[in-house]
Amino acid sequence: MGRREAGQVNRGTGESSAPDLPRKEPVVTSIPDVMLDNGQRIPQFGFGVFLIKPKDTEAAVTTALQAGYRHIDTAEMYGNEAQVGTAIAKSGLARGEVFVTTKLNNGAHRPDDARRAFDASLKALGFEFVDLFLIHWPLPTKYDGDYVSTWNALEEFYRDGRARSIGVSNFQPHHLRRLHQECEISPAVNQIEVNPYLTQDEVRGFCAQHQIAVEAWSPLARGHVLGDPTIDDIARRVGKTPAQVILRWHIERGDIIFPKSVTASRIRENIDIFDFELSGEDVEAISALNRNERTGPDPDTFDMI
Ligand SMILES: NC(=O)c1ccc[n+]([C@@H]2O[C@H](COP(=O)([O-])OP(=O)(O)OC[C@H]3O[C@@H](n4cnc5c(N)ncnc54)[C@H](OP(=O)(O)O)[C@@H]3O)[C@@H](O)[C@H]2O)c1
Repeated sequence: MGRREAGQVNRGTGESSAPDLPRKEPVVTSIPDVMLDNGQRIPQFGFGVFLIKPKDTEAAVTTALQAGYRHIDTAEMYGNEAQVGTAIAKSGLARGEVFVTTKLNNGAHRPDDARRAFDASLKALGFEFVDLFLIHWPLPTKYDGDYVSTWNALEEFYRDGRARSIGVSNFQPHHLRRLHQECEISPAVNQIEVNPYLTQDEVRGFCAQHQIAVEAWSPLARGHVLGDPTIDDIARRVGKTPAQVILRWHIERGDIIFPKSVTASRIRENIDIFDFELSGEDVEAISALNRNERTGPDPDTFDMI
């Protein structure tokens, strides 16, 4: 199979070129794909459903699909896989048109438990395969520090075709190094917390070096970064909202994102970021806001099962 550099972004083809303007990169008007290390493509932008109550999930995912989202990020932990599956089934879209990720829950790291949990996730979603299956947290202080046998179980799901790609979430470089040393298949993806106050240079650098695509969870830091004056200034100047500027910053950096909202107007606002670009200076100004400040737990100590 022909391969491209993993993590490489395939920019959309839509373009609005006025002949009298100086030539520059075309403005992206469709959602780019990112090529994973196994050749699979993942839409760089999608919809996250963490903290959406099961009773609200079908409506939120339906609104997202109608707005053009084609990538949904769920997890067993979120308790709403069944409602995600129902929304996709009722959407009229073919299964292959929507990229779906789910994740192994923290209580199911032992291989037999992982096998049962994966079966249960497929059943809840109503799918024969998922596009991407992740270990949700490394839990290095649990299971005698063994996330390797858990990864070996995911390798089985990849080999039998029921997980089209496999990856991890919240893994630090030292966790990834261990998988590289002890396992056959490298994670295609690492889903980590990233936002303008937590730019994650070290983990992102490691992933770039090893063809692991980065997914940035809580891309809006759950609203925490929205009042930042630097971002407000840029938003006013480019005529977009602060949320759109932050989401576009992630896209310019090459990360995969899936902001969550239960508000229909915000679901539409968040996907409306493919008709403008940020300058290199604006991207740098937002990156310079980094404070290494997490909103979520530290993966090296998080041990919730
Ligand atoms: N792997 C992991 O450990 C992990 C951890 C956390 C999250 N995730 C994934 O990442 C996804 C996104 O992260 P997240 O849900 O934590 O946070 P987020 O997407 O950064 O922020 C969601 C919050 O921002 C609000 N919001 C959304 N769009 C907005 C807009 N345009 N203007 C103002 N406010 C807006 C939402 O409010 P309303 O909903 O009220 O509109 C919600 O309160 C999750 O859904 C999940 O799929 C993964």
